[in-house]
Formats: sequence, C-alpha cells, structure tokens
Amino acid sequence: MKTETFRGRDFLTLLDYTKEEVETILDVAFELKRKRALGEKHHLLEDKTLFMIFYNQSLRTRNSFEAGMTQMGGHAHFLDPSKIYKPARKGHEVAYSTERISDVSRTLARMGEAIAIRCYGDPVDWEYGEAHEIIKDFAKWSHIPVINMECDKYHPCQAMADLMTVKEKMGTFKGTKFTMSWAYSPSVHKPRAVPQSAIIAAAKMGMEVTLAHPKGMDLDPEVLGACEQMSGDAGGSFRVTNDFEDGLKGAHVVYPKAWCATPLFMEPVGQSDPKKTQEIFDGHKDWICDKEHMEMADKQAIYMHCLPADRGFEVTDEVLDGPQSAAFDEAENRLHAQKAVMSLIMK
Ligand code: CP
Repeated sequence: MKTETFRGRDFLTLLDYTKEEVETILDVAFELKRKRALGEKHHLLEDKTLFMIFYNQSLRTRNSFEAGMTQMGGHAHFLDPSKIYKPARKGHEVAYSTERISDVSRTLARMGEAIAIRCYGDPVDWEYGEAHEIIKDFAKWSHIPVINMECDKYHPCQAMADLMTVKEKMGTFKGTKFTMSWAYSPSVHKPRAVPQSAIIAAAKMGMEVTLAHPKGMDLDPEVLGACEQMSGDAGGSFRVTNDFEDGLKGAHVVYPKAWCATPLFMEPVGQSDPKKTQEIFDGHKDWICDKEHMEMADKQAIYMHCLPADRGFEVTDEVLDGPQSAAFDEAENRLHAQKAVMSLIMK
C-alpha cells in the first residue's frame, strides 16, 4: 500500500479506514515502539505543531499526544475552550465569548499541521451525535488533518491502542474471542465512544466479537449494523447478549466498562431520562469484573480497560492489578498508536 494515501486525511473514526490501512497504522506503531525502546531518534514531525482542544478532562489522551509530538520532534499545543473564544457551531454563538468553528479551524490550520479535538457529554448537553458534528465541522473547514480525541460516538485513537494490545498479547486477530461488556459504575455519565470504537475495530479485523450489556444499554444501531457487515467481510463474527456470564464464557479478551444508556441522551436518539438510566445501572451492580468472572473466560484471557476505571465497581483491584491485566500496556500503546497515526497523516 502507498503510505501517501494517508497524507492529509482526517482521523475521525475507524469506519473511514480499510482493514489494510489499519494494519499499516499498526505496523508503523510497532516500529515506533521498537525505536523508542532502543532509544533510536525518530523525529518524523520536526517543527510540526498539533493543536489540541479539550472540552473535557483527560490524562492518557492529552499526555500521550503531547509526549508523542515531543518524541517526534514537534510540539503539541493544549487549548482549553474556556480560555480561548469557545469554538461554537453556527447558531450557538455568543458575542465576544464564542467564535464560530469555521473561523477557529481555518485560523489554526494556517499555523500548524493538525488539529485534535475531544468533546462529548456536558459541553453538548448530552445530545448524542452533536459532539461528532462539532468535530466534523472542524474537519470541513480545516485544510490540515483533524483528529478525533474522543467524541460522543467514537474514540478511534483508543481503538488503535486496543488493537495493538490484542495483537501483542494474542499474536493474531483471527480466532480471537473479543468480549466488549458493559460494567456497573456509580456514574451514569459515560459516553459510548469507547465500546463503539472497540467493537468497530475488533469486527474490522475479523475477531469473534461479543457485545454484552443489560437490556436498555444498547449501542448505536448504525454502529451495530456496520459491525455485522465488517465482521462478515473479514471472516469473523459478531453477536450481542444481555447476559454478562454468557459474554465472558471462553473469551480471550475481556473488556468490561460502563457506558450510559440511550435514555440519558437527548433527542433525536434518546429521551433524556437520567432517572431511568440510574435504575438500569443500579439493577446491574453485579456486572463487575472480579476474579470469579475472569475465571469464566479463557485461562489465558487478558483484561482490558481504556482507563480511568472505577475500582470496586467496574473492576476489582485484584483483576486490574493482577497478572491478566493488560490495561497499562493498553494505556502505553496510546502513545505508540497515535504517533503512528500522526506520522502518517501529518507528514
Ligand atoms: N482512555 C482515555 O481516553 O483516557 P483519558 O480520558 O485519560 O484521556
């Protein structure tokens, strides 16, 4: 494949990238991980600037992008929307407080080589899809690549790190039983971006994918449809179960995390019913990844989590800190996977 096909492209969702392209990104990520381990200089983005706009908090995403740009000889610039004129879509503007996204995007594009954005939840009043539209709006007006650092629909950078971790631990995607499961959290305010991107990535690479969640915690039907299609094309499988233990049985990869149900979201997708969401959450406190549940999976199974994890709720300390946990390898792989994406699309 010509790596030139990556130059200048946005990275908004893995749905925009073919299986072959994802494999190329993974190859580059492993090569950059090798170079860093050996202390080999890899200044692929010397003098380049990445602008990062964070509407939400972050530990891993911010620091992996920032460290990644430094390691490649460039600079990542952190922008807090409340400290600039808050980028706003047409029709949501407030005089001398916000600035239209078209203007922010075109201005930053004149000064750097990529713009990365994180936006979901409160900044868009939990209107499902609105944050993704904001990121698409940036991309529409920017002549440099736009990277999705997590919106309300997708977290493609996390998904690349997830794939890298599975490949490292399992050696192959073919035949790997990948279970993405809902898990209980005391907070219902959890976006669906991670599970949606994880099943997209696993289905695209042809894994045997199981999505487990309580009734009412359904993911976006468009994403589910895409997963069915991609898993068929890649020779894998895709199924949904409402039974936690059924989802865990025989799995090679166990990835339990909380996400919020459809009723939390505003129209047009949800009904904005936080009380109903809370009831569903509270009715499934037994969906916790503890030692007993891990024993239902394959003996060699790995535990994955995008982090931060709600210890004692989504997962026990024993599992997260235990020998089967790949969560911190996964966190490290954010660095390598994103360096691969940036070096391919920004150069
Ligand atoms: N997994 C992840 O995106 O972590 P942060 O929220 O810390 O960036």
